[in-house]
Amino acid sequence: MPTDNLQFTPHIKLEFKINEKDFFVAGESASRVKKTLQQLGLHQDIIKKVAIIIYEAAMNVAIHGNHGMLRIYIDPESILVETDDEGDGIPDIELAMQEGYSTATHEIREMGFGAGMGLFNIDQCSDELHIDSKVGTGTKLQAKVYLRKKDSISDP
Ligand SMILES: Nc1ncnc2c1ncn2[C@@H]1O[C@H](COP(=O)(O)OP(=O)(O)OP(=O)(O)O)[C@@H](O)[C@H]1O
Ligand SMILES: [Mg+2]
Repeated sequence: MPTDNLQFTPHIKLEFKINEKDFFVAGESASRVKKTLQQLGLHQDIIKKVAIIIYEAAMNVAIHGNHGMLRIYIDPESILVETDDEGDGIPDIELAMQEGYSTATHEIREMGFGAGMGLFNIDQCSDELHIDSKVGTGTKLQAKVYLRKKDSISDP
């Protein structure tokens, strides 16, 4: 393995299971991670971005992704938010990323979701975003937020 990969070795890993139509786990996991990041002394701007990514990505799994996992990897360089689901997949990722695009049902919209802003907001908050999706199989989202040098958790 090239030594470059060492910087991606996770130092803290947090994991949450997301059940179908669980509208609470997104908020709960975002709060839990927020607390951890505050304890690590990270900058409020970074914490805010990570919390938005976690909330929107987890909501998408609960609403569109059938069920899946949310994982957060914290290391001195970055925070990686990853969701993995077994939903129907996204046929056109570029279209899904567009502001206002949503396939949410009437029922979901009545609950206040489905504005088509989630992926757009995730993109705005991420320094790197990768979405892999296979129709009929599921979707994997990876969003990375870089930690600024002065906010690093391990550098003296
Ligand atoms: N994990 C996923 N599995 C399958 N489809 C998804 C997934 N995430 C997003 N999508 C598709 O991409 C569309 C856009 O997602 P986005 O999060 O931007 O909006 P939304 O979830 O519909 O509404 P909002 O996030 O504003 O409540 C969704 O309507 C859905 O069609
Ligand atoms: Mg969404």
